Amino acid sequence: MHPKLELIAAACSNKGIGVKGDLPWRLKSEMAFFTRMTTETKDDNKKNAVIMGRKSWDSIPPNHRPLNNRLNVVLTRQDLDLGSEATVCKSLEEAVSLLTSPPFSEQIERLWVIGGSSIYEAALKSPFCHRVYLTDIMADFECDTFFPDMDLGKFELVEDPAVPDGIQEEKGIRFKYQVFQLKQDN
Ligand SMILES: NC(=O)c1ccc[n+]([C@@H]2O[C@H](COP(=O)([O-])OP(=O)(O)OC[C@H]3O[C@@H](n4cnc5c(N)ncnc54)[C@H](OP(=O)(O)O)[C@@H]3O)[C@@H](O)[C@H]2O)c1
Repeated sequence: MHPKLELIAAACSNKGIGVKGDLPWRLKSEMAFFTRMTTETKDDNKKNAVIMGRKSWDSIPPNHRPLNNRLNVVLTRQDLDLGSEATVCKSLEEAVSLLTSPPFSEQIERLWVIGGSSIYEAALKSPFCHRVYLTDIMADFECDTFFPDMDLGKFELVEDPAVPDGIQEEKGIRFKYQVFQLKQDN
């Protein structure tokens, strides 16, 4: 089967996604959305994989690591051993190849790419890129990490029944969930 990478990110007005190794905002409902989208599976016997860069892994508080009910995959160029907490891969290609081969291929439903910057960039360039779940945080935050440029001409907005419609609001911050799909995937 052709693997499909699905990116999920939240970015503010200047496309910022992070600051000082953390998220620039605290939005409980957006975090719950991330957890639900990356966790839910159609097949109860399967799990999803969450593929992340080593710095994103480091940014998760130790008591929340690994992200539960998901196979955590960490990309690093170092020789890291994260034991049973996470599977370590040296590239996105290696991760896709591993996850789409037995035994993982029988256990994993969706391949979520959860950041940060260079991992999103690699996924956007990958032949397996399929969708980008991008939350548009309609506010300005100081950021030092950014979502990469995305060629919007190659994508179209699609509906996903699992994604709430319209403008959301929390703590006076407005945001909306958007799903972009690569046009050739239709
Ligand atoms: N708003 C959002 O949706 C969102 C999502 C995720 C993260 N974030 C934020 O973003 C920041 C972290 O992201 P980041 O961009 O700084 O770092 P990152 O992408 O999470 O991690 C970068 C590290 O990943 C490894 N790496 C990168 N590209 C690789 C590749 N092609 N193959 C193998 N390994 C690779 C390298 O690890 P080594 O140095 O170990 O070799 C690199 O230093 C934090 O502030 C976090 O809170 C925000």
